[in-house]
Amino acid sequence: MSFGTKVTLNSGHEIPTLGYGTWQSAPGEVSVGVYEALKAGYRHLDLAKVYENQTDVAKGLKKAFAEIPGLKRQDIFILYLIHWPVAFSKTSDDKLFPLTAEGSNEVVIDRGVSIVDTWKALVNLPKSKVRSIGVSNFAPEHLQAIIDSTEVVPAVNQVERHPLLPQDPLVKYAKGKNIHLTAYSAFGNNTIGEPLLLEHAVIKQIAEKIGATPAQVLLAWAQVGGHSVIPKSVTASRIKSNFEEVKLADEDIAIINKIGETPRRYNIPNTFNPKWDINIWGEELEKNTSNTVI
Ligand SMILES: NC(=O)c1ccc[n+]([C@@H]2O[C@H](COP(=O)([O-])OP(=O)(O)OC[C@H]3O[C@@H](n4cnc5c(N)ncnc54)[C@H](OP(=O)(O)O)[C@@H]3O)[C@@H](O)[C@H]2O)c1
Repeated sequence: MSFGTKVTLNSGHEIPTLGYGTWQSAPGEVSVGVYEALKAGYRHLDLAKVYENQTDVAKGLKKAFAEIPGLKRQDIFILYLIHWPVAFSKTSDDKLFPLTAEGSNEVVIDRGVSIVDTWKALVNLPKSKVRSIGVSNFAPEHLQAIIDSTEVVPAVNQVERHPLLPQDPLVKYAKGKNIHLTAYSAFGNNTIGEPLLLEHAVIKQIAEKIGATPAQVLLAWAQVGGHSVIPKSVTASRIKSNFEEVKLADEDIAIINKIGETPRRYNIPNTFNPKWDINIWGEELEKNTSNTVI
C-alpha cells in the first residue's frame, strides 16, 4: 500500500509525494494509465501540453470521475509549471517545436523572452484557477534569477533525479528556499536506449534483500528527504506495484547514494531531436552551443 505521504508546499497546498507521469504514453494507453493510476490511489498527476496526449488523459479522468466513488477534481494535485528555462519563437502554425528552417532538426529559440518574463506570466495567472505554480529543469541560478525579480518563490522545481543524478547542490539550494523538488525519470534514462536503473546490480540486490521490486526501491530512494516522484507506466500491474511503497534502511540509502558519485544526466536539450542550441546545465555535451539561459 502507498504510505500516502503528502508535503505542504510554500503555496500552502499539499502535494502527494508519489505521483504518476504521463509522458511517452501512446494514445489509447494513457487514458487507461490515468484511470488505473487514480483507481490505485495516485492523486498527483504530471501532465503537459507538450506530451500531446491531453485528449487521452481527459478520457482517463472522465472515466475515473464517473467510476471511482467520491473522487473529485480537487482531490488531484496537478502543478502548473514552466517546463524548461527556454522560450521558443511562436510561429504562425503554432508548432510546439518551431524549426529554424523547413527540414532542419533545430528549434528556434526566442532570445526576446527571458525566464523572468515567463515567470511573471505564471505569477499573474488567476488564483481561482491555479493554486501552485512551479518550474521544471531550473538550476539554482535560474531559480535565483526569477526569485530576485519577482520575490515569488516557485512551489516546485521538477527535475531529472535518480541515483545516477542525485542533484545534491540543487537539493541543498531548494531546501534553503523552501522549494519542493519532484523527480522525473526516477528510473534513469528515458530516451537514449541505455538500460534503466531498474537493471542496476546494486538496486536489484537491495530489492531482493528487502523483498521489493527494483522500481519500489528507486521510488523509495527518490522520496528520501521529502521529495516527490512521478513514475510513468502504462502497465496496470506496474502502476499498482509502483504504488505499493517500501521503506529503505539508512545503510541501503547510503549504498544507493554511492551510485551517483560520478553523475550521469540524460535530459540534455542540445542532444534532443530536434536539438535546442542552448547550454542549460554546463554539461560537456552543451559546450558547443550558442545560447545560454536568459
Ligand atoms: N519536466 C520534464 O522535463 C520531464 C522530463 C521527463 C519526464 N517527465 C515526467 O516524468 C515522468 C516519468 O519520467 P520518464 O518518462 O522519464 O520515465 P520513468 O518513470 O523514469 O520510467 C518509465 C519507464 O519505466 C518503465 N516502468 C515503470 N514501472 C516499472 C516497473 N515497476 N518495472 C519495470 N519497468 C517499469 C515504464 O514502462 P511501461 O510504461 O511500459 O510500464 C517506462 O518504460 C514522465 O512520464 C513525465 O510525466 C518530465
